[in-house]
Amino acid sequence: MTRILQNDSHGRFASLRVAVTGGTSGLGLALVRESLARGARVAFVARNREGVERVAREHGRAHGIVGDVSKKEDIHPIAMQIVGGLGGLDVLVNNASALGPTPLALLGDTDCEDFERALATNVLGPFRLTKALLGALAASARCGRGAVVLNVSSDAAIHAYPRWGAYGASKAALRHLSHVWNEELLAEGVSFLSLDPGDMDTPLHALAVPDSDPATLKRPEAAARELAEAIAAALPARSPGKAPRGAAAVEVDAS
Ligand SMILES: NC(=O)c1ccc[n+]([C@@H]2O[C@H](COP(=O)([O-])OP(=O)(O)OC[C@H]3O[C@@H](n4cnc5c(N)ncnc54)[C@H](OP(=O)(O)O)[C@@H]3O)[C@@H](O)[C@H]2O)c1
Repeated sequence: MTRILQNDSHGRFASLRVAVTGGTSGLGLALVRESLARGARVAFVARNREGVERVAREHGRAHGIVGDVSKKEDIHPIAMQIVGGLGGLDVLVNNASALGPTPLALLGDTDCEDFERALATNVLGPFRLTKALLGALAASARCGRGAVVLNVSSDAAIHAYPRWGAYGASKAALRHLSHVWNEELLAEGVSFLSLDPGDMDTPLHALAVPDSDPATLKRPEAAARELAEAIAAALPARSPGKAPRGAAAVEVDAS
């Protein structure tokens, strides 16, 4: 039974067109690999050219894009390369993220520029990129392939952890954005997910909590598998010609 379910969720990814921001490290890289392993066509975005070229070399089928989601002027070039590289888009994962000040700081000690960077990367970037790609996503939904936007969240979106104010406020805004967008686009067949992957052994976590023991943290590959399952569950069943149905916004604490 488990195998049948697994095959079905893998089947839903076959030939899916998936874009992942922050696809050269941690969870994003694991999502690129998980999506490719499930048969998807993948585009990924990151700022560092060397990192993008390295991942593109390692995964010949993945389309690497150099860009910064926090920069307004980068959004349309990124969106055009995603749609051009994949020939459309079924799944967008807004995964790239900024912590704000590092080391983490009390709000009163947080520089405005660090707060702005967290908002620009974690809220404005996903808003702009999603908006630029809505036409492609709605087209995919209309022809029955389904369309899903996964905004990667955090428990800091819900809990008021001291020193996590810039990051937490930005993730709370992204979470709310996901819910509103889901309500607004339900009828179009575009579903929004806001999912917390849990505490993972990644460079971002090491930067935020330098003294944490990596052995106690989740592997990003495990989180990527869980998120891929959630995306598959939000897609309409594969039956050509059948109109897609929108799904409710899903919130999962995968930790
Ligand atoms: N790690 C955890 O414990 C944890 C817990 C809860 C939630 N999360 C969430 O999980 C997601 C992934 O985190 P992670 O720990 O995997 O991070 P990570 O290992 O630091 O990877 C971040 C990725 O995003 C890219 N990136 C950063 N800023 C970018 C920008 N402005 N534009 C484009 N790409 C950018 C980075 O490449 P470049 O530097 O080359 O741009 C890199 O590929 C984030 O949304 C994070 O908030 C993580």
